[in-house]
Amino acid sequence: MILITTPGKVGLEAARLLAQQGKDVRVLARDPHRAAVLEQEAVQVVEGDLDAPSTIDAAMRDVKAVVLVSPAVPAQELNVIAAAARAGVTHLVKVTSKASADSPIARQRGQAQIEAGLIASGLGHTLLRSNFYMQNLLMLAPAIARTGRFGSSAGAGKVGFIDARDVAAVAAEVISSPATHLNRTYLLTGPELLSYSDVAATLTTVLGRDVAFEERSREEDKQAMVSAGVPEPTAAMNAHAVSLIADGEAAWLSDDLPTVLRRRARTFREFAADHVTAFS
Ligand SMILES: NC(=O)c1ccc[n+]([C@@H]2O[C@H](COP(=O)([O-])OP(=O)(O)OC[C@H]3O[C@@H](n4cnc5c(N)ncnc54)[C@H](OP(=O)(O)O)[C@@H]3O)[C@@H](O)[C@H]2O)c1
Repeated sequence: MILITTPGKVGLEAARLLAQQGKDVRVLARDPHRAAVLEQEAVQVVEGDLDAPSTIDAAMRDVKAVVLVSPAVPAQELNVIAAAARAGVTHLVKVTSKASADSPIARQRGQAQIEAGLIASGLGHTLLRSNFYMQNLLMLAPAIARTGRFGSSAGAGKVGFIDARDVAAVAAEVISSPATHLNRTYLLTGPELLSYSDVAATLTTVLGRDVAFEERSREEDKQAMVSAGVPEPTAAMNAHAVSLIADGEAAWLSDDLPTVLRRRARTFREFAADHVTAFS
């Protein structure tokens, strides 16, 4: 049995891919309705909370492999790692981002703490360290649909955007043949470096109408995220992370995805074409 710890962007798609390969998959969900889309697939959905270790222990029954993907709150993910060790799990795939104990970004410090806990646990593991997800741009979609414009403090900085569906595909591949990927770290990106102006140009082509990018301040970015419903501390952290794009923080690419999946990563143009309705 494979346990996937949340039905978010990566977790839902990984569950779907694994179920289609005939694997036994269970998804832990705080609200099982969020995983309703999996009803068509042979996926077990169990109610649980990453803040409640007893519910994680219950979800670990007969589990040999875990895909750990969540908002990366250290106490929650360390709960999962401890429960996996108790349950005799043999391999854990952790979805992560840049991680550094002295980063100004709290999430990156948290990821470093979680990764250190995972290594100390002695569990067989694989780290999937991804660049920014293309799906982050969906937060801008309502503004793009309404005004044909969007803003960001990323400036002219470039990003190796990756489609979260591709992160899920790598997680599914690795958890299906863990011995090949034991204790490896994969750097996951899309195939190209794009600035936000490049994103606007691609959207203009795909949507068939003008989309313009305008630079804005980190504070304006934060307020836009708060208006979109993101809690204030998370919006502040995310806006800070986006502002670092201007300094080249996300200007990196890797061939790890094509090496693991034996296919190329999805392009932003493909992502945009798949999400025309959201941007329109
Ligand atoms: N976004 C990016 O650009 C990016 C880039 C690189 C790496 N990452 C990493 O990707 C990971 C996030 O993955 P994702 O984007 O797939 O997540 P996501 O779509 O944001 O989904 C998060 C999931 O966690 C669930 N959740 C939150 N708190 C919970 C709790 N206490 N107990 C149980 N479930 C809980 C949420 O459930 P509800 O629906 O009930 O809230 C939701 O299903 C993080 O480690 C992040 O650092 C993200």
